[in-house]
Amino acid sequence: MSDRPQDIRLVVLEPDSHGAAVLREALSRDENMRLQAVVSTLDSLFDEISATRPDVIVADLGSLGDPAEGVRDLLMRSPDACLIVTGADASPGSVSRAVTAGARGFVLKPFQGDDLLQTVKDAYGNLWKLRRLQRVEQVATNHAEPAAGTRGAVIAVYGPKGGVGCTTIATSLAVALASGKKRVALIDLDLQFGDVGVALDLHGANSVEDLVAHAAGIDATLISELLVRHSSGVRALLAPDNVLAIEDIDAESIVSAIDGLRPHFDYIVCDLWSTLDELTLGTLRIADRTVLVSTPELPALRNLGRVMGGIPAALLDHAIVVVNRHPGKAGVSLAEIQKSLGRPVAATIPSDGVGVTQAINQGISLFDSRARVRSGRSYKRLAQSIAHDLESQPAPIVGRLASTA
Ligand SMILES: Nc1ncnc2c1ncn2[C@@H]1O[C@H](COP(=O)(O)OP(=O)(O)OP(=O)(O)O)[C@@H](O)[C@H]1O
Ligand SMILES: [Mg+2]
Repeated sequence: MSDRPQDIRLVVLEPDSHGAAVLREALSRDENMRLQAVVSTLDSLFDEISATRPDVIVADLGSLGDPAEGVRDLLMRSPDACLIVTGADASPGSVSRAVTAGARGFVLKPFQGDDLLQTVKDAYGNLWKLRRLQRVEQVATNHAEPAAGTRGAVIAVYGPKGGVGCTTIATSLAVALASGKKRVALIDLDLQFGDVGVALDLHGANSVEDLVAHAAGIDATLISELLVRHSSGVRALLAPDNVLAIEDIDAESIVSAIDGLRPHFDYIVCDLWSTLDELTLGTLRIADRTVLVSTPELPALRNLGRVMGGIPAALLDHAIVVVNRHPGKAGVSLAEIQKSLGRPVAATIPSDGVGVTQAINQGISLFDSRARVRSGRSYKRLAQSIAHDLESQPAPIVGRLASTA
């Protein structure tokens, strides 16, 4: 688990070109500082904030108009950011109004590089620690230790052809399940290019790697630290930022760490990558329900057919087939799909044109009132039917990890 914030993404509003140059130079001295943009007007700052969602905003106080209103306006647009104001001859009154309105630090101009860098690090570090404490407290009140005997169901979402919609289905399923007041975890098992964080607009310093490292001590506090909370209530464990991190994680440890989450959740939704490897097979082995995803196109169906015919049948005991983006423009019919796979199709999800992509680009779930998607009801129905089946056939108390290995 990260005990400190790592990369810090900054956006700066500095109208003076010399000041901007000093600032760039100072920030470049620290490898964790990721300067996204330096802008010279308030309007461009607003644009940058909505485009890049920075961790830290450094803003020239003189450019904000009224200090308190300017700070409040910026924080309304970027409530999670750490805002630091700067000024040459700012009066103590205006600095204090800016700080009272929510600014986390003040840097006097002309900039002294060391002073600036230290203020950014301190202000962001303090805010990060505060948020961490708040999260732990929130969990202590919201997420009590589980009642003895609770054993959540693992739902694996898998499609052997990339891009068929697994992440969209997994995130939507998780959000739909959480709306029924259930405790839902969403685990990004696309360890290399996982995009659950993008789909739900979540950021977090921790990942599957951290869960594995702390698998022996999974409790409510650890869960609140590692799994980022989405507004729907879903707790998401994101993929590692570092695409090379996966080399150090062994699949069986991940699978058993996921198994260790069962007492803390009603449902644990796993978004798998398309690779058929140890991690995928291990996850299918412990899954209480596997959602096999295809689109109605031959390449995707062929891959799914090969997997269904090639892996031990026991791994697919709990599998259902879902056809996404059905009917396709020149797609295969449902009857043909069922015939070729030798299984009924449990659900179809309509193609949503640009609606889904727009929602993802805005980082909102497909059920958000701002999302213009038609497929929302399909995910809800799928979630209800999976929940209904799982509740009428509860997972055995003894781990299936060992029994079907
Ligand atoms: N029903 C749908 N209608 C329209 N677009 C969709 C639908 N489902 C998924 N998409 C879009 O298809 C693309 C791929 O979806 P998604 O990332 O969910 O697939 P994936 O199987 O997880 O892919 P990957 O192999 O990259 O992990 C995304 O741009 C997504 O917005
Ligand atoms: Mg995916």
